[in-house]
Amino acid sequence: MTYRIGLIPGDGIGREVIPAAGQVLAATGIPFEWLPLKAGWACFQEQGTALPEETLAGLRTCHAALFGAVSSPSTPVAGYRSPIVQMRQSLDLYANLRPVRSLPGTREGIDLLIVRENTEGLYAGRERLEDGGATAIAERVITRRASARIGRLACQLAQTRRGLVTIVHKANILRETCGLFRGAVLEIASEFPGLKVEEMLVDTAALRLVQSPERFDVLVTTNLFGDILSDEAAALVGGLGLAPSGNVGEMLGIFEPVHGSAPDIAGKGIANPLAAILAGAMMLEWLRESEVASHVRGAVEESLSTGPRTPDLGGKAATGEVTAFVAEGVAHRLLVP
Ligand code: NAI
Ligand code: MG
Repeated sequence: MTYRIGLIPGDGIGREVIPAAGQVLAATGIPFEWLPLKAGWACFQEQGTALPEETLAGLRTCHAALFGAVSSPSTPVAGYRSPIVQMRQSLDLYANLRPVRSLPGTREGIDLLIVRENTEGLYAGRERLEDGGATAIAERVITRRASARIGRLACQLAQTRRGLVTIVHKANILRETCGLFRGAVLEIASEFPGLKVEEMLVDTAALRLVQSPERFDVLVTTNLFGDILSDEAAALVGGLGLAPSGNVGEMLGIFEPVHGSAPDIAGKGIANPLAAILAGAMMLEWLRESEVASHVRGAVEESLSTGPRTPDLGGKAATGEVTAFVAEGVAHRLLVP
């Protein structure tokens, strides 16, 4: 079947790594119909919105999408909201999946998956100033529905893996919000008697991720904790240039590298395309093209073992050289399975 895939390069190196991922996916021979879509800071400056209605409407017609990265100003700009947070909420992409696996040249023995709630928590956008600006308050929204839903997905995914679920929270301090999350996930987990379920405070989880990452299988947690822990975990296996992620809901999955728009190297042609290419492999997996996905991952591993490397991995190669090497590797694997 032909898959309709939205392509949102966004800003900065997103415009370099998304075409690279597209080139590798095209080498799989699967018929894709690409739908280019706009979002991000440049789009905001051009159209007055970081997430045009056409982009949301276009995404609703797609089987899946690839998203690069967007630049966000760190001081508030009137009318600007991060399109990725808006997309997750508007399209109900309730789960953020971040696999962390050992790759050639990185620490060995790691194969874990962070399942992060993606629609609420401290990202609910309920922030305000009081006392004439002297006090800032953020509301942390946790619902039983969203917690149960993410808990169920984490348990289902653990069933296809090693069967260990670690519920990460801080319910000793955040008694109501983390308490509700913990209770809802434990209740769902009790429906999965084949799994081993444990809980861990988020600070301990941060420590153990560095000390003994091999012990983890699936970690399930709230939005901000998941964001931080997954960047930490990415550092164990080669850093941001190699870390993919997916935002998935019932109908649509949007896959993206974990990294941002990297303004410091944008336009130089040296961005590492492998995180975006691995996001493409996650997309294939989600489309149930598992065999082709494993060819893409295999070609990425080969490029790390014997191929050209971009400067973030200590090499001198350009984005295009790494991409061509991986695309050729994919084509070769299809010919000689
Ligand atoms: P960043 O991930 O863009 O860059 C951090 C560092 O890692 C930089 O030195 C960069 O050159 C390097 N790096 C990142 N990806 C790389 C790659 N593929 N190849 C080689 N080197 C790579 O994070 P930073 O600097 O904190 O943010 C820059 C902008 O990106 C900001 O405007 C931020 O808001 C945005 N951002 C967007 C995200 C998204 O769209 N999902 C996620 C994170 C940041
Ligand atoms: Mg992040």
